Amino acid sequence: MRKPIIAGNWKMNKTIKKSVEFARELGETLNDCPDMEIVIFPPFTALYAVANVVRDTNILFGAQNMYFEPAGAYTGEVSPLMLADIGVHYVILGHSERREILGETDEIINLKMKAALNYRMKPILCVGEKIEEREKGKAEDVVHNQLVKDLHDISKDEMVKTVLAYEPLWAIGTGKTASPEDANKMHAFIRETIISLYDKRTASKVRIQYGGSVRPDNIDILMAQPEIDGALVGGASLDVESFAKIVRFKRSVLSFDDK
Ligand code: PGA
Repeated sequence: MRKPIIAGNWKMNKTIKKSVEFARELGETLNDCPDMEIVIFPPFTALYAVANVVRDTNILFGAQNMYFEPAGAYTGEVSPLMLADIGVHYVILGHSERREILGETDEIINLKMKAALNYRMKPILCVGEKIEEREKGKAEDVVHNQLVKDLHDISKDEMVKTVLAYEPLWAIGTGKTASPEDANKMHAFIRETIISLYDKRTASKVRIQYGGSVRPDNIDILMAQPEIDGALVGGASLDVESFAKIVRFKRSVLSFDDK
């Protein structure tokens, strides 16, 4: 059985004050959702303050990025040691905004994957194709390639701790969502790829989130897909009410025991 995981990626939004208020309100609103994982990703400046607010709630917290070296002359970077020091549970790696805007390569992402796991943090590894790649029928090749490179030398034990997020670039922040069927098809392909890189048992344990314009009005149908185990939410995670509605998605007839 794979436990659903709903994550809110705040990106470059919210001051410390706003983050703390949000985390406090969310903790109170969602104090009765025990059978799933809820993770929020505040900006670095607010992480420590949020860590203190969510400590006694069922809300986990994570970082949106990190560098792969533990310390040293890397001006402007934040290390896995620093994140582990404040008790970070998850770290988002390979987000398309980092790949596209900040020029992160698969080789860098792979180094970050290893560093996060070494410091006992769980990576949420994002993969996904651009619209031109989908139109050319190359979506699966692109995602396969990212998985092979980003997961290079990651062991089976480490793989089961890793969460994957399928985020087609054309769906991020655009209001366009992949159809539930298309998303499910890509998730099934991702699971097949994990079977080929590891084995069936490992792949059956890995959770795969969908990300890209997830909202309260489309979460139920997305989560009803057998291969979709959660959501990585951007814009709609910035408001307590909308994020809480997403977390409280309607469980479909297909229970998580069947997944
Ligand atoms: P969005 O972002 O929900 O605003 O489309 C998702 C993401 O980038 O993780």
